[in-house]
Amino acid sequence: MGQSFDEIVAREARCFLPVVQRMPVALASGQGSRVRDVEGREYLDLTAGWGVTALGHSHPALRDAIAEQAGTLMNVTNLFYSLPQLELSERILAVAPDAITRCMYVSSGAEAMEGALKMAHRATGRTEFVSTTNSFHGRTLGALRVIGQAKHRDAYSALIKGSTVVPFGDLDAARAAITEEIAAFVVEPVQGEGGVHVAPAGYLAGIREVCDATGTLLLLDEIQTGIGRTGRWLALEHDDVVPDILTLGKGLGGGVPIAGWFCTEAVADTVSLGDHGGTYAGNLLACAAANAVMRVVEEEGLVERADRVGAAVMQRLEGFAAEHPDRVKDVRGRGLLVGLDLADAERAAGLPRAALERGVLVNLTAGTVMRLFPALNIPEAELMDGLDTLLEIVAA
Ligand SMILES: Cc1ncc(COP(=O)(O)O)c(C=O)c1O
Repeated sequence: MGQSFDEIVAREARCFLPVVQRMPVALASGQGSRVRDVEGREYLDLTAGWGVTALGHSHPALRDAIAEQAGTLMNVTNLFYSLPQLELSERILAVAPDAITRCMYVSSGAEAMEGALKMAHRATGRTEFVSTTNSFHGRTLGALRVIGQAKHRDAYSALIKGSTVVPFGDLDAARAAITEEIAAFVVEPVQGEGGVHVAPAGYLAGIREVCDATGTLLLLDEIQTGIGRTGRWLALEHDDVVPDILTLGKGLGGGVPIAGWFCTEAVADTVSLGDHGGTYAGNLLACAAANAVMRVVEEEGLVERADRVGAAVMQRLEGFAAEHPDRVKDVRGRGLLVGLDLADAERAAGLPRAALERGVLVNLTAGTVMRLFPALNIPEAELMDGLDTLLEIVAA
């Protein structure tokens, strides 16, 4: 306590691995969509921990569920049956397509992708994957294998077998690449990190058809889009498409690390005992948190809310884009995952810092895209005020 920001920066410069360009602020506490820094300054948080704190900061139901589980039983490993994991599986299967019947939990999105890729290989016996340009699936070696952004993969390419990467949204290119050699086509229904690109209508359904024709699995990465973010429990509902394997993470735990993959009976039938596992797989604290998130999202109608509030945000941004065609290249998004693609890369780069100075935390992705993915329960007036501040900066 009592540390100034400058002291924290100096101490940390001696010990943190410099792999992240930090914003010049040290956050100390948060309530709802407001956070405070170590010097007591308040900010509106439109980043929600990269889409993780779906219920905002310190939601009482989430806090209480974690505290209760922490005082009961925290980790027993998957060697034993446990109720929080079972309850979570039933909750997730209730909102997933009927064909998805099996669940496995891990601690991060990248790990979920690793497991999903292993399953795709197991189920098909094939070793090749197809993914899409600008995609993001995590930073472990397996996830990097299917990532569609060279900047994340290139330094490690000697360690990773390549995959075929086709332009996101181009069904003909996908058709040409998906053959009987391909284990899975890996895709996000809305690319988040890659710049908020929404799959065009019919794209995922078309991919499903090609996958069915070639015996290729469809692996849908909903780590960023799942659990209400796009105004549906799962973004796949927008496209009415059923994957063979689905991954979830981020908002699922509301801030506690939990992710998972979920698959059809046909995929599950091909695994053997010992095919996957992990010390924290099904961790009780994480499952209790995820149960609380799922319960609150349902009780507070946050899925429908994301749809409605997201539409209002899109309308505001589209109005702004029409008034300032010189400043905005594009407005894209679904629900509360929205991107404003800015025309000028240099000005875009300065936006997060300028916003910080005006009390708003916002994330820039893909170089020019102001990405908004606030808590699903962010008060609408606060969100619109924050948006006005951001748009003033963009227009200035
Ligand atoms: C679509 C998608 N997949 C996978 C990941 C990796 O998740 P994690 O950072 O939890 O490993 C992310 C993270 O941003 C993501 O957005």
